[in-house]
Amino acid sequence: MALRLGDDAPDFTAETTQGTIRFHEWIGDGWAILFSHPKDFTPVCTTELGYMAGLKEEFDKRNTKIIGLSVDSVRDHDRWSKDIEETQGHRINYPLIGDPDLKVAKLYDMIHPNASGSAQERTAQDNLTVRSVFVIGPDRKIKLMLTYPMSTGRNFDEVLRVLDSIQLTAKYKVATPVNWKPGEDVIIVPSVSDEEAKTRFPDGWKALKPYLRIVPQPR
Ligand code: BEZ
Repeated sequence: MALRLGDDAPDFTAETTQGTIRFHEWIGDGWAILFSHPKDFTPVCTTELGYMAGLKEEFDKRNTKIIGLSVDSVRDHDRWSKDIEETQGHRINYPLIGDPDLKVAKLYDMIHPNASGSAQERTAQDNLTVRSVFVIGPDRKIKLMLTYPMSTGRNFDEVLRVLDSIQLTAKYKVATPVNWKPGEDVIIVPSVSDEEAKTRFPDGWKALKPYLRIVPQPR
């Protein structure tokens, strides 16, 4: 069954570049981002994984662990990591899951949806993981799913921005408007009545419409 937002993130045990992990145990009581790339030793993936290493500190600040995955072996991940550091200037500072038997890729629907046919008919190319991103909350539920095509590198700054929005809206009864960035005004969610809003936002709000009530970002 396809995964949906709000579903439990499937648990698994896997080999990684930092040893064997049990996924839920590894997440602990914080947040996690599980992301897949198609193949080691490919150009776009090299830039993506290097960039994520550069962003790791930002994810740490948000109590969020990051972990990569592809259908390659842990040994290949280790060999490729040297190229990433050499070309992108960042040493891989988060675990990479080796998933040559596609166990985790299948659990998370990371195999290209148009790939079809029996195991005998499928080519190695069919069995590459797409560029998936899963944001998982401390309750181990899926908060965000993204799927990018093979030929397009992801915007991981956007993933960080969405994480900021998800963490903020998990804490306060607000939503974030189009192109919101941390520190900018937010919107009171429609389920909050004006009565309730008076206690939650005692400094008031700007109502452009009864359903469009704007407040400074709560802190
Ligand atoms: C890449 O990372 O460059 C790539 C990987 C698989 C297919 C196309 C591009």
